[in-house]
Amino acid sequence: MIDKIKSEIAAVAAFSSSNAEEIENFRIKYLGSKGLLKTFFAAFKDVPNDQKKEFGQTVNALKNAAESKVNDLKEARASQEESKGVYGDLSRPGEPMAFGSRHPISIVKNKITDIFARIGFNVSEGPEIEDDWHNFTALNLPEYHPARDMQDTFFVAKDPDVLLRTHTSSVQVRYMENNKPPIRTISPGRVFRNEAISARSHCFFHQIEGLYVDKGVSFADLKQTLQYFTTEMFGKSEIRLRPSYFPFTEPSAEIDVYWGLETETDHKITKGTGWLEIGGCGMVDPNVLENCKIDPNEYSGFAFGVGIDRIAMLLYQIPDIRMLSENDVRFLEQFKASI
Ligand code: DAH
Repeated sequence: MIDKIKSEIAAVAAFSSSNAEEIENFRIKYLGSKGLLKTFFAAFKDVPNDQKKEFGQTVNALKNAAESKVNDLKEARASQEESKGVYGDLSRPGEPMAFGSRHPISIVKNKITDIFARIGFNVSEGPEIEDDWHNFTALNLPEYHPARDMQDTFFVAKDPDVLLRTHTSSVQVRYMENNKPPIRTISPGRVFRNEAISARSHCFFHQIEGLYVDKGVSFADLKQTLQYFTTEMFGKSEIRLRPSYFPFTEPSAEIDVYWGLETETDHKITKGTGWLEIGGCGMVDPNVLENCKIDPNEYSGFAFGVGIDRIAMLLYQIPDIRMLSENDVRFLEQFKASI
């Protein structure tokens, strides 16, 4: 019998729980009105006299052990509950808050609009789904003009033509139709072309269109504005305007920036020439001004269009244009910007 009680003392010592029900069951098992202790005390009278002392001490030890165990466990539970409170454990370290990041296209777009805002350009936008007039005809690309074929257009509907704009030059037209000179506006946006998707080209990408219309605007103003832009954007002030053709400008030019030939990457991105093409520009064709009800005898203007995706790929060394639209968080979270 004494051995049995001793093994119960060991069991009591080993017991632990923070569960209220388990603690209560434990109490009932030992200290309850039909508990083990009651049984042991009842057995006392049958214990031979010479063992009574040891027996009594052992049962008392079990009683004390069980009582203090129950008290300890209840206390521990109470303090645990208390510290949890309504808000949980207030001393716990806070959950780290995940910050989002801006898309590289947005970073570059914001930088460009910011640079032009400093010289008085506002931001304007137009619809991605356009009509023929704003995307082509008003821009001096009448029906059957061969240059229309160059812009592999996605058509949404025929007669009248509804299409996905192939360039942000369409916003020029909308802006001139709705605003009187002096005009200084920059129009960022997404454009669409039915091109095979590869590492270098996609069926949608982003452009920024610039438009300046006022009295006496000259080609020198255009060049100076672009030079200011490349200096602010890339830290490169040497530019080259290569004669080219666009139906909506006359004269027209391709914009090249002197990127340099210092590193291997410089060689790669400029194909060994040091020059990098960033877009097209020119003096707004008088026909375009007329189409937008602006008198070309009174006003002149310049316009330019720059590709945003290319600039982002260049600045961040992004090897494949498709990465810009795959929404891979591991790629996107690498871009941190304050703008
Ligand atoms: N719209 C042309 C394109 O998508 C880019 C462009 C060239 C825009 C010359 C202009 C410009 O405003 O003057 O290829």
